[in-house]
Amino acid sequence: MAQRAVLFLLWLVDRSFAGFPNQINIGGLFMRSTVQEHSAFRFAVQLYNTNQNTTEKPFHLNYNVDNLESSNSFSVTHAFCSQFSRGVYAIFGFYDKKSMNTLTSFCGALHTSFVTPSYPTDNEVQFVIQMRPALRGAVLSLLSHYKWQKFVYLYDTERGFSILQAIMEAAVANNWQVTARSVSSTTDAAEFKRIIEEMDRRQEKRFVIDCEVGRINTILEQVVTLGKNSRGYHYILANLGFSNVSLDKVFAGGANISGFQIVNPENPIVQQFMQRWERLDEREFPEARNTPLKYTSALTHDAILVIAEAFRYLRRQRVDVSRRGSAGDCLANPAVPWSQGIDIERALKTVESKCTGMTGNIQFDNYGRRTNYTIDVYEMKTGGPRKIGYWNEYARFVNIMDPQVSNDSSVENRTIVVTTIMYATEVAPLGSKMGWVHWAWCLLAATA
Ligand SMILES: *[C@@H]1O[C@H](CO)[C@@H](O)[C@H](O)[C@H]1NC(C)=O
Ligand SMILES: *[C@@H]1O[C@H](CO)[C@@H](O)[C@H](O)[C@H]1NC(C)=O
Ligand SMILES: *[C@@H]1O[C@H](CO)[C@@H](O)[C@H](O)[C@H]1NC(C)=O
Ligand SMILES: *[C@@H]1O[C@H](CO)[C@@H](O)[C@H](O)[C@H]1NC(C)=O
Ligand SMILES: *[C@@H]1O[C@H](CO)[C@@H](O)[C@H](O)[C@H]1NC(C)=O
Ligand SMILES: *[C@@H]1O[C@H](CO)[C@@H](O)[C@H](O)[C@H]1NC(C)=O
Repeated sequence: MAQRAVLFLLWLVDRSFAGFPNQINIGGLFMRSTVQEHSAFRFAVQLYNTNQNTTEKPFHLNYNVDNLESSNSFSVTHAFCSQFSRGVYAIFGFYDKKSMNTLTSFCGALHTSFVTPSYPTDNEVQFVIQMRPALRGAVLSLLSHYKWQKFVYLYDTERGFSILQAIMEAAVANNWQVTARSVSSTTDAAEFKRIIEEMDRRQEKRFVIDCEVGRINTILEQVVTLGKNSRGYHYILANLGFSNVSLDKVFAGGANISGFQIVNPENPIVQQFMQRWERLDEREFPEARNTPLKYTSALTHDAILVIAEAFRYLRRQRVDVSRRGSAGDCLANPAVPWSQGIDIERALKTVESKCTGMTGNIQFDNYGRRTNYTIDVYEMKTGGPRKIGYWNEYARFVNIMDPQVSNDSSVENRTIVVTTIMYATEVAPLGSKMGWVHWAWCLLAATA
């Protein structure tokens, strides 16, 4: 009797998840510059698949990887279509400026979610889950903190225009003098040299550099060569991988350097990951051991957490994700989207609370952009980069080095009100002491 009951129960359990596959196939699209990320991707899937806990690992993750030799629209179309015809449930991968539009329009038309650590898109697109948090709020807060009124903004159009736009709006509102200069078409050091010399003639000593790590390093090499790293110069690196830029030489000259970091080395998840990552065999996982961990590799690891959690959720909700209705022809006219694509997209975006990764709390808004994240703010000091504070969308920049900030009880109540207003107006005139006083007065007048 008991045996029968057990069998019946097993049968019930089995039936209730009957529609859910035991294997979830995901796609991977990598580029020539994402070797370490590819290793992180395979390692994160391996970590998931070797988990013995069946609550955490109710299905197996399989992947098909395509390496894009070039990001022209022909090879991107080919790679996407080959993934789609193999029936992947979601695609993880990278895009650049050239391939972004092709990829995002395929994803939108065929309801296939694309999870990416690439730079956040400027537009609001569906079916793209963006692992990389936006940096513009943190950059603006830091500019206000340093009270910069006149500076050079060097930017790379390959990373989108969102920081450029935010800086220009703030410049108009605050009367800043900003010299913006695109450096994206430039790959040769000589051109960077010319730009730095030109800025020197204008007596510019403060720079925001908004580029990928590689280009930042090339620019900073020129800075050192030209001796523009002496006391009085200040460089803010608008990049989430501060500790992975070679700063020693720049700093040795006396210049100030500030930047941002999304991976907090004190996070236990990061420590656990690093312990195992540093023991991997480079033949199987290139760039795992002897190359510093890139923040995009940490975002890749977290993308696998998000994907696993989304499908666990769909399984719990008994959503049948198996592919019906679409024959896997990505060029069919009219497009035949995947019937469960919307459910999958929604699940990916609503992982919240269940997901803490190497890059902290993972949550998305309706457009698949990160929300409720924390970015650490660093300054270069003798002995290495030091965390001076953090930024999040609620508290803005919080300086942990400055003791005056917190314990001023006499103005406690007023300060709280004033800072609340500051949140609401993204580009309030924080630039000067007068700005603060002015705001405080307006408020006191208003509440009196
Ligand atoms: C399996 O994982 C779940 C969720 O993380 C946890 O609550 C449970 O205790 C784990 N079971 C075992 C046997 O470790
Ligand atoms: C560099 O940092 C020091 C110490 O934080 C500060 O006193 C100085 O004003 C900074 N210089 C520039 C050019 O920002
Ligand atoms: C790069 O960053 C990782 C963690 O974020 C750190 O462990 C490593 O030491 C950094 N590399 C360099 C050269 O600073
Ligand atoms: C933000 O994330 C924290 C966890 O880091 C969570 O406790 C909090 O509820 C989240 N806030 C919102 C508004 O979702
Ligand atoms: C502020 O004051 C409170 C109590 O007076 C104390 O517990 C706290 O440590 C102080 N914080 C700082 C940053 O000094
Ligand atoms: C802040 O205001 C509340 C209510 O008006 C009052 O009870 C409290 O004592 C005030 N705190 C300070 C530090 O002035």
